[in-house]
Amino acid sequence: MNPLKRIGRRRASVLGLAALVALVTPGTASGAPDAVKASTLGAQAAQSGRYFGAAVAAGRLGDGTYTGILDREFNSVTPENEMKWDATERSRGQFTFGPADQIVNRAAARGQRLRGHTLVWHSQLPNWVSSITDANTLRSVMNHHITTVMNRYKGRIHSWDVVNEAFADGGSGQHRPSVFQNLLGNGFIEQAFRTARTADPAAKLCYNDYNIEDWNAAKTQGVYRMVRDFKARGVPIDCVGLQAHFGAGGPPASFRTTLSSFAALGVDVQITELDIAQAPTTAYANTVRACLNVARCTGITVWGIRDSDSWRAGENPLLFDRNGNKKPAYGSTLTAMGGTPTTQRADTSSPRSAAALPSRFSWSSSGTLISPKPDATHNIAGIKDPTVVRYNGKYHVFASVASSSGYNLVYLNFSDWSQAGSATHHYLDRSAIGAGYRAAPQVFYYAPQRLWYLVYQTGNASYSTNPDISNPNGWSAPRHFYSSMPDIIRQNIGNGYWVDMWVICDSANCYLFSSDDNGHLYRSRTSVGQFPNGFTDTVIAARDSKYALFEASNVYKVQGADQYLLLVEAIGSDGRRYFRSWTSSSLAGSWTQLAASESNPFARANNVSFPSGAWTRDVSHGEMIRSGYDQTLTIPACRLQYLYQGMNPGASGDYNLLPWRLGLLTQTNSTC
Ligand code: XIL
Repeated sequence: MNPLKRIGRRRASVLGLAALVALVTPGTASGAPDAVKASTLGAQAAQSGRYFGAAVAAGRLGDGTYTGILDREFNSVTPENEMKWDATERSRGQFTFGPADQIVNRAAARGQRLRGHTLVWHSQLPNWVSSITDANTLRSVMNHHITTVMNRYKGRIHSWDVVNEAFADGGSGQHRPSVFQNLLGNGFIEQAFRTARTADPAAKLCYNDYNIEDWNAAKTQGVYRMVRDFKARGVPIDCVGLQAHFGAGGPPASFRTTLSSFAALGVDVQITELDIAQAPTTAYANTVRACLNVARCTGITVWGIRDSDSWRAGENPLLFDRNGNKKPAYGSTLTAMGGTPTTQRADTSSPRSAAALPSRFSWSSSGTLISPKPDATHNIAGIKDPTVVRYNGKYHVFASVASSSGYNLVYLNFSDWSQAGSATHHYLDRSAIGAGYRAAPQVFYYAPQRLWYLVYQTGNASYSTNPDISNPNGWSAPRHFYSSMPDIIRQNIGNGYWVDMWVICDSANCYLFSSDDNGHLYRSRTSVGQFPNGFTDTVIAARDSKYALFEASNVYKVQGADQYLLLVEAIGSDGRRYFRSWTSSSLAGSWTQLAASESNPFARANNVSFPSGAWTRDVSHGEMIRSGYDQTLTIPACRLQYLYQGMNPGASGDYNLLPWRLGLLTQTNSTC
């Protein structure tokens, strides 16, 4: 965003068409097909709206090979043991959440979904529970356990295994004996589901079991009767988890029938703990195909990452060998989902992906969602340059506010977009950020320091930190990233302005991007360990003519793909703002055009529909809705959303008093 000083000049931005013809680079399509073949499990599963997950052990999160595969391949995580009763409530009423928190916080920050496993199970149950002899005591202990654990992670778990393995093996089709069954009778499962629904109404509630994959098995039929009965009586149940711990033969021939029969009862089905002795390629492919053939089979989780991580390590049942290399079953699994495996490399670095984003975009825009809320001391004309994260069940939006006295920042939060207009606006000049020129914020959680960062422009590139994003008074006073403007910027900026600072990190480095309103995108680097200090080696990351590469850059990691996305705001031949896009396989790499022209823009009035009225012709400075909230700035590969500034096309006058408002674009040409 251009600073206050430039009052008036911006009215000259309605350029002569002739001048622009030379400025706008024609779009060279990247050649990426619209039907995308991804090269990782999670990204490919996402193409059909599914997830591909792994069981994760907190104790292995320090192993870089392990986390490298986890973050590259999987977009859902199940704590392998950390949420079980013996881990969370070892003694009555004393809850321990450290290891589960570690997994949950890590996954949530990266936009990986979470399965909760498991609340009520006869195994890994502390003795103090199994030795209870009184039904009322057990009932209240069970309800308290469910409520406390679910509350802890409320809003962050997509599916909970409420009850695990309650049915007996063999031909009875009945419940197995357990302290729950023995004291509370058949009704304990129903009781657990009802308690769970109250504790976290947004989570899907699953019954999870093994040896229920064969439609002809008595155990399968027993579970089926229970689910049918629950649905008939309105007992809250949303899904059935089929563990799928298979022998070398893989799934039974009737597996697809089982999945579709459960689904026909009106529940989702999920493959929750997949592993197959010796990992035969066809057994894995058959399992995946069965799921893909059932619309309500919403995702697959493998029970561990490398063979050496498996609870069945002796049978080598997983997709990666003990060195972290892809096994043949990895290829057959990805191929069965329609993806394209890349050639194995000797090390664990990410192979280059097929493009995970399409090369054309179309959008539908909301009406105006957020407008200024002036108060006695803030006479605001426009709200601009939004940055947004979804965290703890809420959208947290920071934006510039423009008035005749200059620029400052505002913060608001709300649980969904329908609430955005009624949210309270907190002016951040009342925090230690202080009054004066502060604009174009960017927010993210810097996981290594467990701290929120707000990056913004003050003439320098500045930042404040806050341990609690929802506390508007918690921000620290501004600090600068640079001692002064780097030489290379000074040499290239011409009559432009140094604006729109943007930080993104990979696992080793953090990069600071900025613009100069003069056709240059700059990039500096520091290490993850040194951040926020040490930004150096400033280079020109991209260049074009002034209006074709103007300002307001965003850089993101595409989830599950080895792909980064760059957006830069341009000024079109009609004088209106729009976004161009590029991709790269590394943050420090060169950028290839994706949708980067006026006729094939990333987002411009000509690829946006306005069902509630064309309130703007500008699609200007904004921010993608991310799938996580940490410094990796991860976005989903599909169903993109972009929060942007627009304004009444008839408005004119002083640039800094223009009536900018915020609206939301939702992608309409997503392939998944
Ligand atoms: C297993 C874990 O993988 C092991 O680490 C642990 O020692 C025992 O439990 N069904 C389930 C899972 O629902 O929780 C089990 O996980 C495997 C069988």
